[in-house]
Amino acid sequence: MFHISEEEINQVRQNADIVEIISSYIPLNQKGKNYFGVCPFHEDHSPSMSVSREKGIYKCFSCGATGNVFKFVSDYENITFPEAVQKIAQKIGITLSITTEIKKITKYEIEYKIMTLSNLFYQNNLMTEKGKKAREYLENRGLTEEIQKEFQIGLAFDKNSLSEFLHQKNYENSLLISLGLLNQKKEFFYDTFLDRIMFPIHNLNGDVVGFTGRIYLPNSSPPKYLNSKETMIFKKGNILFNYHRAKDPIRLEKKVILVEGNMDAIRMYSCGFKNTIALMGTSLTSYQIKEIKKLRVPVILMFDNDDAGFTATYQIGTLLEKENIPIHIVRLSGEKDPDDYLLKNGIEAMQNNIKHAISFIEFKLNYFKRNKNLQDSEELAAYIKEVLKGMKENTDPILKEITLKKLSNDYDISMELLISELDHIKEKEQKQNEKIKVSQEEQKIIKKTKYTDSIFHILYFMMNDPIYIKMYKKNLGFIDQATYRGIANEILAYYEFHKCINLADFLTFAENSKLKKEIYEIVTSINDETIDETIMEEYIMSVKKIRKQNEIKQLKEKLKLEMDSNKELEIVKRIAELKKEV
Ligand code: CTP
Ligand code: MN
Repeated sequence: MFHISEEEINQVRQNADIVEIISSYIPLNQKGKNYFGVCPFHEDHSPSMSVSREKGIYKCFSCGATGNVFKFVSDYENITFPEAVQKIAQKIGITLSITTEIKKITKYEIEYKIMTLSNLFYQNNLMTEKGKKAREYLENRGLTEEIQKEFQIGLAFDKNSLSEFLHQKNYENSLLISLGLLNQKKEFFYDTFLDRIMFPIHNLNGDVVGFTGRIYLPNSSPPKYLNSKETMIFKKGNILFNYHRAKDPIRLEKKVILVEGNMDAIRMYSCGFKNTIALMGTSLTSYQIKEIKKLRVPVILMFDNDDAGFTATYQIGTLLEKENIPIHIVRLSGEKDPDDYLLKNGIEAMQNNIKHAISFIEFKLNYFKRNKNLQDSEELAAYIKEVLKGMKENTDPILKEITLKKLSNDYDISMELLISELDHIKEKEQKQNEKIKVSQEEQKIIKKTKYTDSIFHILYFMMNDPIYIKMYKKNLGFIDQATYRGIANEILAYYEFHKCINLADFLTFAENSKLKKEIYEIVTSINDETIDETIMEEYIMSVKKIRKQNEIKQLKEKLKLEMDSNKELEIVKRIAELKKEV
């Protein structure tokens, strides 16, 4: 990790023309003061993204993506914020003085260290005399020494040797238990992994966070694979096996291959299909989907050649399709999984399979036949409806035509009927979607009250110009809700320190703020362009008014409980005063 001073970042930001930079990624057209383009962060059909040179930010009116020039480049290229700063600096010819190497400070530094040490320990075991059988097993599976090194494969012995080793380094049992390396039964402690071949599991950044251990001796007891339990650093739902190695190859190949098992990924990778990642099993969390989507490349699903793999292809394909991620399907024939397939048929055969990956709709054509007797008219009708439903808005029109023709020929149904049925289905779906959208929007409006809306505007104005900070200090002074008061305080501190403020540079600062999400929520939600002092004054007035109304409500409650008649009178007076002001 390198460190760039905020001063330098702001210098780059101010010298980089956001319109010029963004238009080197997507075409922009000028309309009035602003520039418009098709948003690259969602499936956009019309130019919904506006870019303001003056404000130094972009904003998509459809999906809400927003930020300064660094945010755009980091999201578009899927690189970190500092990397984006560096890239833009280079583009516009500014040399940065990134000399200060700062160590990556992580919350779980000790935990990561223990996992890394354990990983090294296991790897060393494999090289010892006692590791002979394990090495033989690996060689037999075609996992050469080179592959063993690359994937840091190791071995857990049959004794508590890992915990003994870690004790020598003064790590305590409680810590080892919390990392899933050690178990306790009554007063006895024993290593979690015994007599297993060990594969480290890395998080997306490449830190070792867990292990999966495979049995290798003929008389071992199941399970075949034992995984680390969930810990503070190991969340199965956040893992994509081999991601950290495959990330760059994925970018180069412009596609990612998704397989079921770790062994499949290892085999694929070592056979040159380096853009392969594995799920650990056959489910996918929304976090994993998000990470896959961020890669912004088509996904090839290549699951096991069994029933579970068939179903998983449909289920996971459907999830990815919903996110508008382009997918292609490879169903291997003969062998059980990509690992076996490569061993039996070789690299060329695999390349051929990938080259001939089929579309998801073509896969569904097959999948929906499952458990159906197409000789039966009712079942055939149900099948055809399922296929039509499976055709998405964004299915390629040629593909659509081919699929319809196929259905028409295979089942002797006229094209006209199929097309009209398809239209009918789409229409129904659209109506339903609209209903959902309307109710979602209604909820949004209800949720965002007049009060919050005013606060959002006030904070947004303050991020744009010191004038509004001064108005806030003079006329409002504070915000009741802690989160928004926190943002106001960050703005004040920023201004205090820099003696100036503008939205684009404040967003750079926000990158490292605890309130980043909330700050972006505010910037995203503001759609009216005009910022001026009269409007600011109106929002402040409205907040004050609501504040008074709330105070009246509270006083009325208090009044109900008040016994002392003098105090009662005071409260009544105060309420009257407030009412007048409101
Ligand atoms: N898996 C698991 N626990 C098991 C079995 C499987 O966690 N008892 C997970 C593993 O991540 C495994 C994946 O499910 O990689 C796929 O399982 P499977 O196809 O049975 O394993 P393979 O990858 O084929 O492993 P091998 O070739 O070593 O048998
Ligand atoms: Mn296998």
